[in-house]
Order: sequence, then C-alpha cells, then structure tokens
Amino acid sequence: TPNTQEQVEILKNVSTQFEVTGLWQPVSPHNIKELTQVHLYVPGNSSETVKNLLQRHNITYEYVAPVIIKMQMRNDSGDPRSGSTFYYRYHTLEDIYDWINRTANDYPDKVKAILVGSSYEKRPLYALKLSLNNRPNKKAMWIDCGIHAREWISPAFCLFFVHYSRMWRKNRSPQNGTSCIGVDLNRNFDANWCTTGASPDPCNEIYCGPFPESEPESQAVANFLRSHKESIQIYLSIHSYSQMLIIPFSCTTDEAENHSELMVKTAADQIRRYYRNTYTYGAGAQIIYLAPGGSDDWAYNLGIKYSFTFELQDRGRYGFLLPPSHIQGACNEALNICNSLKFVFSPF
Ligand code: ARG
Ligand code: ZN
Repeated sequence: TPNTQEQVEILKNVSTQFEVTGLWQPVSPHNIKELTQVHLYVPGNSSETVKNLLQRHNITYEYVAPVIIKMQMRNDSGDPRSGSTFYYRYHTLEDIYDWINRTANDYPDKVKAILVGSSYEKRPLYALKLSLNNRPNKKAMWIDCGIHAREWISPAFCLFFVHYSRMWRKNRSPQNGTSCIGVDLNRNFDANWCTTGASPDPCNEIYCGPFPESEPESQAVANFLRSHKESIQIYLSIHSYSQMLIIPFSCTTDEAENHSELMVKTAADQIRRYYRNTYTYGAGAQIIYLAPGGSDDWAYNLGIKYSFTFELQDRGRYGFLLPPSHIQGACNEALNICNSLKFVFSPF
C-alpha cells in the first residue's frame, strides 16, 4: 500500500514491468493511488528484487507464498462426477461442455442449451435458458460468467448457480423483512427448538422458522401424529445421504430413556444383514451433530419410543445427485432395513 505520491510512482514503475500477467489490482498502473492496495504477481526469480525495492522505499507489503497459486489447480477428487463436490472445483472447457450437455439432457423441461455464437477461436458459446414453468410473457434475468478469462471463480459460479435450484433444502415460505426464502422443516418441530444446531437467521440453511410448527408442512405432520399417537409404534423419517440409522436424540446430548434398547436392537442380526457394514447407527447428537427441532425427536417426545431418521445412499460419491441407476438398489436396501426394524421392535 503506497502512502505517498513518491511510493505511488515506484509502484507504477515496477508494476509496468510485470503488467500483462502481473498486476492483479488495480487493473492498470494508471489507477494506482495513495492508501489503496496494489496486488502484484511476480515471477519467482524476481521476487527478491521486488521485495528489496519495496523495503528500500519503505513501502509496507505482505508477501504471499506461491503455494496458494497451485491450490486452484488441485482438485480434491479424481472423479469429475463425484457428487456435489463437482461444483466446488474448477473444470476444463471440455468438461464444462460435457456438463452443459448433461444438464440440458437431465432436465429437458427446465434447461435448454442455446448456441448463441462462437468465440474468435471458433469455440461454441452456449446460453442455458432456465425456467421452472411455461407461463407466457415471463421476464428473464441474464447472467454471464467468464468474460475475463483469468477470473476462474466466475464460470464456477455459473455452474453452481444452474444447479442451485436442484440443491434446495428448505420449504418455500417467504420470510418477513428479507428476500431469503424457506424454513428448514427439520428444525421447525418443538424439540429444543432453535437451540444450538439451528439458526434464527432466515437466510441460513438450518433456519428454525419464527416459532415451532410455524410451517404448514411441519404442522400437517405434527397434527396427524398427535391425533394418531396411540396407534403409531414406529416413526421413520427418510433423508439422504450418508447411510445412517439415527436414533434420538439430536436435540440434546442426553441419552434417550430407552437408548440401550434402541442401540442393542438396532444392532440385531436381522438388521445388520442388510447394512452390509455400510450403515452407521447411533444417537444423532453423537454420530452427526446437535440438530434441534427435528421430527424424529419431536415424535419420540410425543411418546413414539421407536423413532428413527434414515439417511439413505450414498456415502458421498454422488451425494444428493444419486443417479437413477442407483434408485432400485437404494430402495431395496432401505425396504429391508424397514422390515427388519418392524420385526425387531414390534415382533407381534
Ligand atoms: N441430516 C438430517 C438433518 O440435519 C439429520 C436429521 C437427524 N435428526 C435430527 N433431529 N436432526 O436434518
Ligand atoms: Zn435431510
């Protein structure tokens, strides 16, 4: 950061030498001014020279080691289709074209790929048109990404954004005083509602709602269970993913009163046969995290003493994007565990 006009001139001078790839901020040496940071990316063999120059002119600087440059090249998984992490990595143009095709094919009623032109080097330029319904005379919002080639996070956002409608978690209720939408229904039940593990912020993915059972969806479930609690012996809430069988509690680290019965019977042979050692089980607060306001804990406190949350396939390879070819296997496995639970906990 230059503090004087003299230091500004020094920085203009040195950044001009590295201008094309080197000056990251501001965009041109002309824009360098007092009290405003300059970000300069210099080749390794020049870094000592530049540091000396800065020191000689008393310019305060921070040196960032080159390992961080390499970090953007490092993808965490070798498999380009590995579930939701796909959107947290950078991709080659080839992979992005692939992704455009796949997305348009997988969601033909929501996504259309439109060829809008080609680049100077003759590579196709696509627009993806997203619409969730066909109402006539709808207005649109245009988003483009990657106008500047070095700004890799920009196209990464466009891919992420297209998939985000697919990645919704909460319900769709608008909230007062914010444009953020939705309550996490599995934080909206009256079981240590909105304590640690839930958020009072409507923009958060685990927003607990304005009060317990504020949402029509959680109300509907709670009302039905309340009026039928005498006859319901086992409660199952089915989620994905991670292959787990979760018993109460998730809303407190206290053990449920019949904790050992639940643990022992859940480990029973009939059930274990279908885990194929791939389902983990235990109390939610122990095996995942504190998560108050869940339907399973609420149902348990209502008196349904055999209450479970199921996290179905997979363990994260595809995550929330489990392909259709896995539906049959995942369902049969879950069915078998359901049958065994019924047998073990209610053998009449
Ligand atoms: N993934 C689920 C969630 O976070 C786990 C639910 C477990 N039960 C619970 N009451 N939190 O909502
Ligand atoms: Zn869930």
